[in-house]
Amino acid sequence: MDKKLITNFDTLATSKSRRDALTVAEAGLQAIDTQVVLQNSIELDGTILRVAGERFDLTRYEHTYVIGFGKVACTAAYTLEQILQERIKEGAVVGLSERVCQTIDTYAGTHPIPSTQNYTATKHIDEVARSAKENDLVIVIVSGGGSALLCSTMAECDQGQKLFNAFLQSGGTIEELNTVRKHISKLKGGGLAQSLYPATVISLIFSDVPGGDLAAVASGPTCFDESTVADAQAIIDCYGLGDFILNETPKDLEYFKRVHNIPIVSNMTALNAMQASARTLGYRADIVSATQYATPKETAAMLTKQVVPGSVQAMGGETKVIVPEGCDGTGGRNGYLALSMLDSLQSGQVFISIASDGHDNTNAAGALVDSETISKATEMSLNIQEYQTNLNSFPFFAAVGGHIRTGQLDSNVSDLLFLLTPKISRDDATITDITAKVLPDSRGKETISVTVTAGEHSGTFSVPSGASTGIREVQVIPARAAVTIVADTVKPALLGTSVLDQSGLDATLRNLGQTPSLAAIGGNVALGVSVAACKAAAQVQGIEIWKYIADLFGHQTQAPAPRLFVNLINGGEHALVGSAIQEHQIIPDTDDVAAAHAAATAVQATLHQLLLKDFKQSEITIGDEGGFVIPSTTIEAPFAYVAAAIEQTDTAVPILMGADMAASSFYKAGEYELEGAQLTPGQLQTVYRSLHKQFPRLQQVEDPFAEHDFAAFAKYQSAQPAVTCIGDDLTTTNKTTLQKAITKQAINGIIIKPNQIGTVSDTLATMQLAYQHNIRCIVSHRSGETMDDFIADLAFGTKSYGLKAGAPTMPERAAKYDRLLAIIQTHE
Ligand code: PGA
Ligand code: ZN
Repeated sequence: MDKKLITNFDTLATSKSRRDALTVAEAGLQAIDTQVVLQNSIELDGTILRVAGERFDLTRYEHTYVIGFGKVACTAAYTLEQILQERIKEGAVVGLSERVCQTIDTYAGTHPIPSTQNYTATKHIDEVARSAKENDLVIVIVSGGGSALLCSTMAECDQGQKLFNAFLQSGGTIEELNTVRKHISKLKGGGLAQSLYPATVISLIFSDVPGGDLAAVASGPTCFDESTVADAQAIIDCYGLGDFILNETPKDLEYFKRVHNIPIVSNMTALNAMQASARTLGYRADIVSATQYATPKETAAMLTKQVVPGSVQAMGGETKVIVPEGCDGTGGRNGYLALSMLDSLQSGQVFISIASDGHDNTNAAGALVDSETISKATEMSLNIQEYQTNLNSFPFFAAVGGHIRTGQLDSNVSDLLFLLTPKISRDDATITDITAKVLPDSRGKETISVTVTAGEHSGTFSVPSGASTGIREVQVIPARAAVTIVADTVKPALLGTSVLDQSGLDATLRNLGQTPSLAAIGGNVALGVSVAACKAAAQVQGIEIWKYIADLFGHQTQAPAPRLFVNLINGGEHALVGSAIQEHQIIPDTDDVAAAHAAATAVQATLHQLLLKDFKQSEITIGDEGGFVIPSTTIEAPFAYVAAAIEQTDTAVPILMGADMAASSFYKAGEYELEGAQLTPGQLQTVYRSLHKQFPRLQQVEDPFAEHDFAAFAKYQSAQPAVTCIGDDLTTTNKTTLQKAITKQAINGIIIKPNQIGTVSDTLATMQLAYQHNIRCIVSHRSGETMDDFIADLAFGTKSYGLKAGAPTMPERAAKYDRLLAIIQTHE
C-alpha cells in the first residue's frame, strides 16, 4: 500500500521517535487490511479453493453462497467476489457501510447498538442461509461487531440494545457480554451452524477478540458454545443487568461436523507486523501481551516493566474502562489510555494507542503522547489530571494535538498499543576511560581487574587463570606488565569507540594482539577489556548482562538453564597429593538450578563424612577448585567415594558423575603415567572401560587423552557413545580447533573458557559452531579464580548445557552458583 492509512502522519511526526512510532503503527494497520489479508489467505486455482492451508474442491458443491456480518463484512464480501467471481450464486452481508457488489447484497447496519436496519439485513442473511442444501457450500464472513449487527428478531434487537447499555456501566468483560449475547439470540453461539446444516460451511473468522478465541468473535455463530443458559443468567445476576429472555445454544455436535472455522486475521497479525517494522528500524521489539484487558494503570505497569533503550513494547487488546457515575467526558478507550499514560512516560518515550478499525468511539483512531504533549498541556494551562478523572480525552487531544486520524478502516482486530523508548544516543555508550589494576586470585597469584567506563556507566572484570593450561590457549602477560599495556596500548586505541559494538571492539583487541595467541597485548588483557566492555554495554542498555549476551548470541538453546558440574574431589595439578586425575564432579541431571544446587551441597556433606571415616581431618585438604584432596593415589578411590556419597544421599534429582582427566598433565613422551605405570593410549582406553563398567553414573568425561590426540578422543567417543566426551585442553574454546575436532568426530561436548580465546566475540563464535553441531557447551571457571561471576551470565545467556564452577563452598566458586541462582529467581 503506497498511501499511508494514518492521514495526519506527517503532522504528528515532529521528532525522530514520533516518526518511528508512527511507522510502527502504520505497519500494524496495513497488515490487517481486509483486502490484504483475504488476498493473502484465499486463492482460487481452477476449481480448487485454498483457504489458509485448507483445500476445497468446488466441483463437489452445487451452489456457493456467501453470508456475513461484522465491521469488515462488506469489504470482505467485495474482495471474495473478486476472487470467486461468478461462482457465487447468492449472498447477503451486513457491515458498517455498503459496498456495491455484483451478486452479494450488502447492508449498512448500526453498531454498537442494534437497529431495524440490522434486523432487515439479518432476515435476508437468514433466507440465504436457509436456501443452502446438503450439497451446497456456504462461505460465512464472521467479523467483530457481528454480535450487534446480526439480529435475528426485533425482540433480539431490543434485548441487545438493553444489554449493551446495562453492560457499559457494569465493568464486566467482553467475554461475559458475549456469553449473555449468545443466549439472547437464535443465531449466535452456534445457532447459525445449526440453521446451515447439512451444507458445508467455511467460516472466515476476522478476530477482534484479544487472545484469538474463535468462538468469541461475533458471539461465535458457527462455533460450538460451551456456555449454558445458567452461565448467562449468573452473569446477568452478578452485574444486575435486568430481565432477559434466554434460550439454550445448540448442543448437538452433528451440526458442527461440516463447519470449517478458519482464522483469517487477529491482533497477532498486526503485532507481528509491528514487531517486524520496529526491528527494521533498529529497535528491540517485544510483544508483551496479545490479550491485554486491563485498566490504564495496570497496562502502564506491564509496559514499563522491561523498558530498555531502543525498544518497542507492544500489546493488543482492549483497555478496561470503568465509567464513573455522572461522568460526562468524551473520547474512546484508546484516547483515555494515552491520556493516562502521561503519568508514566519517561523523557523521550512515545506511546501510541489506536483502535484497529480507525474509530476510537470518536472520529479519531487513537492518540500519540510524549513529553511534547505534556509541555503543550502545561503551556496551555490544561489540568491533565482533571481530564483523566473525567475520562475527557477527546477535548484534551483536540486542544494539545496528538489525535491519530485514519478515517474508518477496513480492519478490526481490537486495539493496538505500544511504548517506544528511544535508542541511546551515541554519547552514552562512548568509551571514556579504561583502567586496570592488580589483584590476587584464589591461589594468591597476581591477576588483573579491568574497568571500562562509558560516561556514567561502567563494567569491571577480573580475569581468572588456569593451571592445566592447553598449549593452544592465548598468552598470559604477567599482571603488572598487563596493567601498563592497558594504559599505554589498549586505552588509546579504544577511547571514543562504542561499548555497544562488541564485535568491533573485539576486532580491535585482536589486531592489537597481533598474533592468534594475542602475544602483543596478552589474552588476559584482551579478555579483561572485552568482558568489562560487555558488562558496561549491558548497563548502558539497562539490561541484565545475561540478556545482553543473549542478544549478542541469538536465539539458540541447549538447555533452559545450565546443569551444574560440581567438582568435589581435586587431584592432578590442582592438588599437592592424590590421584593423577584432576577433577571428580557430580552433575545433578536437571535444569532446575535450585534443586541441583541443593542436591550437590547435600552430596558434598555426605562425602565429607565418608572421607572422615577413612582419613583424619588433618589429612583431608582442599584443592584449587574447592574440592577435597585425599592422600590416596589410586585412580579408583575418588570415584568410589563420590559414587558412595551419591548413593548415600537422599536427593530429589538423579545425579551423574563427571571427571576431568586432564590427560595432558600425565602424558609424557607418548605415554600416560598413571599409578606408576606407563600406559599406551590403548591401555588407557582399557582403564576407562573398566571405570565406566564399575561406575555407570560416570557419563561426562573431559580430556580423556592428551591435547594433540584427536584420534584417541574419537576412538573413546565411539566406544562410549552414551558418555559426553568433552574437549578442554583439546579445543581451548578455539573455533578452528573445534572445527577440527568436529571433522574428526573427537568430541560431543566442549568446555568454554573465555580466557582461553581472549574475547567475548570469539567465545560466542565458538559456541555458535558447537550449537550448530549439537556439541554440548559447558561454560567453565578456571582453577585460579576471582570473585567475578560473569560466567554464570554467559552460561545462562547462551542457554548452554552446563556450568562448571568447582565446589560450592569456596567463595570464588560459590559466587558463580549464587549469581546463577539469582538470575533464575528474577527471571521467573
Ligand atoms: P585449569 O583447570 O583452570 O587449571 O585449566 C580447569 C580444567 O582443566 O577444566
Ligand atoms: Zn579441563
